Amino acid sequence: MSDGAFEGYGGRHVPDPLQEPLEQLATAYDEVAETDDFQSELRGLLEEFAGRPTPLYYASNLSDRYGAEIYLKREDLLHGGAHKINNALGQALLAKQSGRERLIAETGAGQHGTATAMVGALLGLETEIYMGKKDVERQEMNVFRMRLMGAEVNEVTRGDEGLADAVDAALEDFAENVENTHYLVGSVVGPDPFPRMVRDFQSVIGREAREQFQDRTGELPDAAVACVGGGSNAIGLFHAFREDDVDFYGAEGGGEGSDSNRHAAPLASGTDDVIHGMKTRVLDDDVEVHSVSAGLDYPGVGPEHAMFRAVGRCEYTGITDEEALAAFRELSETEGIIPALESSHAIARAIQLAEAGDHETILVNLSGRGDKDMETAASKFDLSQ
Ligand SMILES: Cc1ncc(COP(=O)(O)O)c(C=O)c1O
Repeated sequence: MSDGAFEGYGGRHVPDPLQEPLEQLATAYDEVAETDDFQSELRGLLEEFAGRPTPLYYASNLSDRYGAEIYLKREDLLHGGAHKINNALGQALLAKQSGRERLIAETGAGQHGTATAMVGALLGLETEIYMGKKDVERQEMNVFRMRLMGAEVNEVTRGDEGLADAVDAALEDFAENVENTHYLVGSVVGPDPFPRMVRDFQSVIGREAREQFQDRTGELPDAAVACVGGGSNAIGLFHAFREDDVDFYGAEGGGEGSDSNRHAAPLASGTDDVIHGMKTRVLDDDVEVHSVSAGLDYPGVGPEHAMFRAVGRCEYTGITDEEALAAFRELSETEGIIPALESSHAIARAIQLAEAGDHETILVNLSGRGDKDMETAASKFDLSQ
C-alpha cells in the first residue's frame, strides 16, 4: 500500500511543497523502521523509558456488575499517562536518525504534546507544540508539564480554537521548515505515511494484549473496544486482531444531548471528504465539533477507520458526554481506576455491550489515565457529601 490508500481512503492530498518531504519521510520509514538496530533501540526505550509491557487487567467488579468478562489493557500506566508515548518514541527516533533537529506537534488533550515534549527532552530535540486556545484553557496542567520539559507551547486562536486548528497551524510550520523539522503527528491521521506509520508504532498495544489474553484465558476476546479521536489507540489495539474472529467497536465523542452521532463522531455521521491531507470521513461544516474530552474533538478520523467502517469490519458509535462521565465515575468507584475522559467513552461502550449480552469477553483499551481531567470532573460532580 505504498500510496497509503486504504481502499480509496488515505492518500497524500497536500500542496506541492509538502510532496517531496513526505516522500522522503515515507522512504526513511520504509528503510529504517524494520531494521534490527531501530527496532531494538525502540524496544529498549519502550521498556525502560515508557514502561512496557503494560498489564492486562481483569476488571472483576465491573464484570460482576454487568455480566460479561471485561478486561482492560492498561495503557494508562505508561509514562506520561497515555498511549501517545508509543508513537512519539518511534517517530522521534526516526526523526533523529534522519538528521532532524526540531520536533513540532499538535495536541488536543495535551497528552500527545506531553509525549512529544518528553521524547524531545530525552533525545535533545527542540520541541514546539501547537494547541488550540480552548484546549490550553481546559488542560492547563498538561501545558505546564510540556513547558517544564522545555517545549514551547503555541496557543492557536484561529477557527474553533481546537484540535483541527492546531493541526492546520502545525502543517503550516512544517511546510515552512521542512529542512530541519519533523512533524510528529499524534494519531493515525494526515497524509501518507502518517496513518500507517503511527498504526505500526501503536500496534504494540494489540500485540501484547493478544498474547496476554491468550496466556490468561486460552482464547481470544469476543470483542475489542476503544475510543476514537483520530483513531490511534483503537487501530493500535485492533491491528493484531484484524484477521481474527473478534468484533471491533469504536466509541466516538458524541457531545451533549441525545443525538449522540452528531458532534465529534465523523464515522457514525460524517461524509467522505479530504481534510489535513487525507481522504476520510469528515463531519459536515454545520456540525459544531464538541466533546467533553479534548482528545476526541476532531472533525476527521484516520482513513483506516473510514475503510473499516466502509467494509463493516468495525462498528462506530457516538457516546454522549453524559454517558462518558457516568462511565468515568463508575470505573473510579468500582475498580479504583480513574480513566481519561477519552477512555471513558470506551468504558461506556463496553458497558453497553455487556448489558446487551452478545459477548462473553470484552477487551477494552484503557488509553489513558484521568489525572489531566480532574478540573473538568470537579466541575461536573459535587462530591462534597
Ligand atoms: C487518553 C487518550 N485517549 C485517546 C485519545 C484520542 O486519540 P486517538 O484516537 O488517536 O487514540 C487521546 C487524545 O488526546 C487521549 O489523550
